[in-house]
Amino acid sequence: MTEAILLERERGLLTLRLNRPDKKNALTRAMYSRLAEALKQANGDPEINAVLISGSAECFTAGNDIADFIEQPPSDLDSPVFHFMLNLLECRKPVIAAVAGAAVGIGTTMLLHCDLVYVSRDARLRMPFVNLGLCPEFGSSLILPRLLGQAKAAELLLLGEGFSGEQAAQWGIATQALNSGAAALSKAREMALRFDELPAEAVHISKQLMRAPDRDLLRKVIEEEGALFTQRLRSPEAVAALIGFVQRH
Ligand code: COA
Repeated sequence: MTEAILLERERGLLTLRLNRPDKKNALTRAMYSRLAEALKQANGDPEINAVLISGSAECFTAGNDIADFIEQPPSDLDSPVFHFMLNLLECRKPVIAAVAGAAVGIGTTMLLHCDLVYVSRDARLRMPFVNLGLCPEFGSSLILPRLLGQAKAAELLLLGEGFSGEQAAQWGIATQALNSGAAALSKAREMALRFDELPAEAVHISKQLMRAPDRDLLRKVIEEEGALFTQRLRSPEAVAALIGFVQRH
């Protein structure tokens, strides 16, 4: 069976490539576990200077696997999705994301925890949590109102409106928008490899300084959101919306 997460090593760069094209790279419990484990290892490996998370030039990820949400919903903070979130939050090494095509749900919220984000202009980002009877996760209820203001954040989180890679770059969710998916992947790789040329300790200390002030607060918010999110998954609103998606496919 092909691996749904491909680990690729190039000099000091570890790339975690989402590779489940038939399901638009939707993330399963097993994929979260693999991502969490790889991030943890990269964090402790002195040979790794940066981590790149990417999908293909056509699709980043359709977010959490909806069949998994129905069959094996996360029940507490010991679930694979939360291990992934906390390992990304705690990663001392720079994390770079390369985004093309769809980036839905956690496919968008994980970008808020990456250090550099390269997107294709026509990438389609969306956080349809409320639309699915759910609520925001991965600190998005804290970060997005701060970044965009309440009024814009409400459009994205309460209405679940989608936006383009170009808008993501204008709003500071992404570092730069590129003309194609292939260009976004190539730029992300080029910039991620730059960390091989920089003094590693200075990079770690600088990232720590940038992230530390909010880290405890973010962990608390992620836990609060997570408790509500796992409850919502069992609500009649969410069950109807999730089953509706499966039945349409
Ligand atoms: N979980 C499980 N399977 C998913 C999925 C998800 N989140 N997203 C897509 N898929 C599957 C579809 O069921 C379909 O499988 P099938 O060919 O076996 O029927 C396949 O991936 C292709 O999806 P499709 O919807 O036909 O592709 P598209 O290009 O028209 O649209 C998306 C792509 C990502 C916009 C659309 O699939 C989508 O909205 N997915 C749901 C996203 C979502 O709500 N995620 C959860 C957020 S909390």
